[in-house]
Amino acid sequence: MRLKDKVVIITGGARGIGRAFAEGYASEGARVCIADIDNDAAIETARAIAGSAFAVKLDVTKQDSINAMVAEVEKRAGGIDVLVNNAAVFNLAPITEVTEKQFDLVYAVNIKGLFFTLQAVAKGMIARGKGGKIINMASQAGRRGEPLVAAYCASKAAVISLTQSAGLALIKDRINVNGISPGVVDTPMWDEVDALFAKYEGLPKGEKKRQVSIGVPYGRMGKPEDLVGCAIFLASPGSDYVVAQTFNVDGGQWMS
Ligand SMILES: NC(=O)c1ccc[n+]([C@@H]2O[C@H](COP(=O)([O-])OP(=O)(O)OC[C@H]3O[C@@H](n4cnc5c(N)ncnc54)[C@H](O)[C@@H]3O)[C@@H](O)[C@H]2O)c1
Repeated sequence: MRLKDKVVIITGGARGIGRAFAEGYASEGARVCIADIDNDAAIETARAIAGSAFAVKLDVTKQDSINAMVAEVEKRAGGIDVLVNNAAVFNLAPITEVTEKQFDLVYAVNIKGLFFTLQAVAKGMIARGKGGKIINMASQAGRRGEPLVAAYCASKAAVISLTQSAGLALIKDRINVNGISPGVVDTPMWDEVDALFAKYEGLPKGEKKRQVSIGVPYGRMGKPEDLVGCAIFLASPGSDYVVAQTFNVDGGQWMS
């Protein structure tokens, strides 16, 4: 019970990696808020988790929605101890075909929404004076370019950069800001990735997943549960001296 009675917000926690984090944190004793644009799925996820998990509707692209979510969590559960900035959207298209609408959505969710959720939660943590933990979900896509994934890669590079700046800015208030950089994880997002590669590279369904699995030194794609240990570490006192880092949790993929 390393997170007993800690109040945790997970944005985009209704499914995929965020859902696995919600389950993992709850099993460590935390009170988890699943804050997602898909409120029905968030409610279903909260119900499936034994204990005191609850859902609050959130659209991270809207500052009013972020502020309302934070206020609701503070009202229902008290001061926030941990934020996981997990919500994101993917985009894949040739660089000459990416539309302004697609680009704006990727940036609105993946970096602007993450920035202002971090800001809103950090303000509350500073006012409360008890420190806290903020974990930003980056990606191996933020460490290098990919020809068909320009907007998403750039947004994730921005997440790694923001983690460095916010980590340095907030540690004086005993708020640790760190990140996790997954490789390829079999979630609903990767179902979309696979379908988009099928479209642009003429591959049969499932083929891209098969190809990327071969490239992972561990020998398979990640599962959401593979990320949970690092997420618990970064939310617990064991990481108090860890500042502004982004950890690759990718079965060795980045190193290879
Ligand atoms: N799956 C992978 O291979 C992989 C690899 C590297 C990094 N990541 C990162 O890990 C995180 C989780 O990925 P996943 O694969 O579980 O994704 P996913 O698409 O399965 O889940 C994302 C969640 O975010 C929510 N969301 C989308 N837009 C939102 C908005 N405007 N406001 C609030 N919630 C919103 C969705 O409803 C969904 O529940 C993301 O930040 C992703 O970029 C994933």
